[in-house]
Amino acid sequence: MSIIADRIKRIKLSPSVAARGIIAELREQGRSIIDLTIGEPDFSTPAHICEAAKRAIDNGQTKYPPAQGVAALRKAIAARLQMENGIDYPIGQIIVSTGGKQVLFNALAATLNEGDEVIVPSPYWVSYPDMVLVNGGEPVIAQTDLASGYKLTPEVLEAAITPRTKWLIFNAPSNPTGAVYSAEELRALADVLVRHPHVWVMTDDMYARLSFIDRAPSYILAVAPELADRTLLVNGVSKAYAMTGWRIGYGAGPAGLVGAMAILQSQSTSGASSISQAAALEALTGPQGCVDEFAAIFRERCEVACDLLASVPGLTLIRPEGAFYAFPDCAALIGKCTPDGAVIRNDEDLCLFFLRDAGVAVISGTAYGAPGTFRLSFAASLDDIRAGCLGIRAACEKLV
Ligand SMILES: Cc1ncc(COP(=O)(O)O)c(C=O)c1O
Repeated sequence: MSIIADRIKRIKLSPSVAARGIIAELREQGRSIIDLTIGEPDFSTPAHICEAAKRAIDNGQTKYPPAQGVAALRKAIAARLQMENGIDYPIGQIIVSTGGKQVLFNALAATLNEGDEVIVPSPYWVSYPDMVLVNGGEPVIAQTDLASGYKLTPEVLEAAITPRTKWLIFNAPSNPTGAVYSAEELRALADVLVRHPHVWVMTDDMYARLSFIDRAPSYILAVAPELADRTLLVNGVSKAYAMTGWRIGYGAGPAGLVGAMAILQSQSTSGASSISQAAALEALTGPQGCVDEFAAIFRERCEVACDLLASVPGLTLIRPEGAFYAFPDCAALIGKCTPDGAVIRNDEDLCLFFLRDAGVAVISGTAYGAPGTFRLSFAASLDDIRAGCLGIRAACEKLV
């Protein structure tokens, strides 16, 4: 009998962790590798936020925090959510967890019964299907395509809904595609959801403040407040404030749901680190210029990367409107041969070819539920992004 539970056998190691292993191996062999796989900002956490954490230590904020989150932080989150979504959440309806990832996980763990379906639009962030699976649910992949800009359409959403659907997981700007929805597009999706009152919405707004477009980001509840009694808003400080290692995320939603998530959290982690919560409070209430600076840097890198990728034979690219990734379609290169006669059978072969031929690491789209694509991260210097894209271009030019 195996010591490992069956539910763990349903899931796998994250592909970025796997990519890191191959990169480390090649570097050990003396290869110089440009790593464009990274899923976190390459900036340091702003100094004023670090100072707040140091003050928290000096002030003795080193005891167990309330399991659902420090009240002052939840008040600051409420103020931000009111600004973004126009909804007033009492702090009892807000939970602070160990990263946005734990908010999503807690919500699924607190709500899924065996066989419940969760709609996951593809391309998706790699963790969604596995988080559904490990909690006994069935991911229902709603396929989007290049033609729709990798955006979920009302038709595709409608077709994915069944009587067993419990959640739609919605993520914009999207990791990996950078797709952003207009208020009209969100309204059209909301109209479908209004017709299916048993479907709840988990909206992952993790990248909402890293947008490359001039209009303000649209939030689903700002457009369709009538969905508030079945929506969980998920966000955090990891991406916008370069705070991935602090592990602070938050969720807001109906009292019953958030209460169940809080019970689960009280019996698992007992809440997020008190020092990190002090830092997150400063992030949300202190000077916000750092977020704009990060967004501007990502935007510049995005322009450089996209201009170069647009010139690569065999790649088709939709310019991302947010987050910090490009997501080229490489289907036209599948079936071609490398100079030593190997056939590129799929996007995974192509990414390995980029790695071995050009020393450039990217993540294959299969990991995101989108074979025939790959993800290239802008969390690298402009020089590396330029050299990486030129390396990819040179490698693609060798394929026949
Ligand atoms: C779409 C998306 N949601 C959620 C997360 C989790 O963020 P964290 O747990 O660091 O707050 C990530 C991290 O990569 C992400 O890409």
